[in-house]
Amino acid sequence: MIYLDNAAGSHPKPPQVAAALAAALEEFGANPGRGNYALTRRTAGMVAETRAKLAALVHAPDPSRMVFTAGATMAANMAINGLLREGDHVVCSSLEHNAVFRPLAVLADAGRIRLHIVQADSAGYLRAEDVAAALTPATRLIAINHASNVCGSVQPLAEIGAVAAACHVPLLVDAAQSAGLLPLDIQRMHISLLVLAGHKALYGPAGIGALYVDSSVSLRPLLQGGTGSRSELRHQPPDLPERLEAGSLNTAGIAAWSAALDFVRSTGIDALQAHAMRLTDRLAAALQAHPRLRLQLLPGETRPRVPLLSVATPERDPAEVAAALDARGVCVRAGYHCAPLAHRTLGSFGEGTLRFSPGWFNTEEEIDAAAAALLASI
Ligand code: ALA
Repeated sequence: MIYLDNAAGSHPKPPQVAAALAAALEEFGANPGRGNYALTRRTAGMVAETRAKLAALVHAPDPSRMVFTAGATMAANMAINGLLREGDHVVCSSLEHNAVFRPLAVLADAGRIRLHIVQADSAGYLRAEDVAAALTPATRLIAINHASNVCGSVQPLAEIGAVAAACHVPLLVDAAQSAGLLPLDIQRMHISLLVLAGHKALYGPAGIGALYVDSSVSLRPLLQGGTGSRSELRHQPPDLPERLEAGSLNTAGIAAWSAALDFVRSTGIDALQAHAMRLTDRLAAALQAHPRLRLQLLPGETRPRVPLLSVATPERDPAEVAAALDARGVCVRAGYHCAPLAHRTLGSFGEGTLRFSPGWFNTEEEIDAAAAALLASI
C-alpha cells in the first residue's frame, strides 16, 4: 500500500505512538483531577506534561490555556461559539475548512453575525491588506486557515497577526494542516485562538486536538459538566483549562499525542516539512506536463506551501480515479476535502480534485509508483 493521504490523517504513526497508546491503558488508567491517589496524580502529570509540550511547540506563554479537545473541529466550534455575540462582524478567508466555515455560516444564516469572506487569489494566497480592508468597528474575530488542506497554500500569518493586533481584533488560526510542518508562534504572530489537530502532521491519533486561548480573550464554555475541581459551583469554574474541559479527558489519546510530539520535536519540523515537500515537488514534476491533468500548483510557485498536491482530472471524475488508484494500492482523497469554499476559490468546484499528501514515512520510490499509477488510471 502507498499511503498518500497524510493531510487527512498521518499514517503510519511512529511506532512509539502506538506503544504509548497501548501502554496508557495500563499506566494512566485513572481519571486525572478526579481523585488524589498515586495513579490519578501520575495521569494528571502526564496530561500536564503534554500541555507543556504543545505550548512549547507554538511558543504559547501559559500551558494551562492549552485546552484539550476531541479534535480541531471541536476546538474551532468552541472558539467561534464561545466568543461571538449577537451583531458581531467576522472576517474569514475563502480557504476555510468546514470546521471553521460551517459554525460561522450557521451564525451568519441565523442573522446573528455578519460574515465577510476575504477572497484569496486563484492559487490560494491571501493578502494581509485585504484582511485589513475588510475590518469594521464591529469586527470581533478574524479567522484564518494557516495552510489550505486543498492546495497547500500558506497564509502570511505574521502580517495578518500584525493587522489583528493593530486593530485589537482577536485572531483565530486554524493550524490543523500546518502544525508539525511550519513554525507557529502565538506571541510573535499575535494569535488569540489556535486550533490544533492531533492526527495530521503532529502524528498523534484521531480524536484528540487542542485549542489555545490567549489571556486576552474569554470564551463561554460550549460544554458544561464535571471538571474534577470546584464541583460545588453551579456553573463551569472560571479558570482554564478546567473551564473548557468538561467531562473526562481522552487520556490514552493524550499519552499517544505526547509520544508523537516527542517524535516531532526530535525529528524537527524543518526536516519533516523538507522531506514531504521534496516528495510533493517530485510528484508535481512527474505530473506537471500531462495534458489530462491540471495541477493546483503554478509552475515556479515560490510562496510558502505545505506538502500536498491537488490535481484536477477534467476528463474523469476524481472519485473514479481515486478508486482506480485504490485498486493499484495507492491511497488518496478525492472530492472537496471538506473545504468547498477553497475549491470555489481555486476553480475546482463542481468536480473537486484528487489530493496527494506525502508524509515522513513516504519514499521517492512510492512517489514514482504513485505517479505511474495515476498516469495509468486517467
Ligand atoms: N480535513 C481533513 C482533510 O483535509 C480530513 O482531508
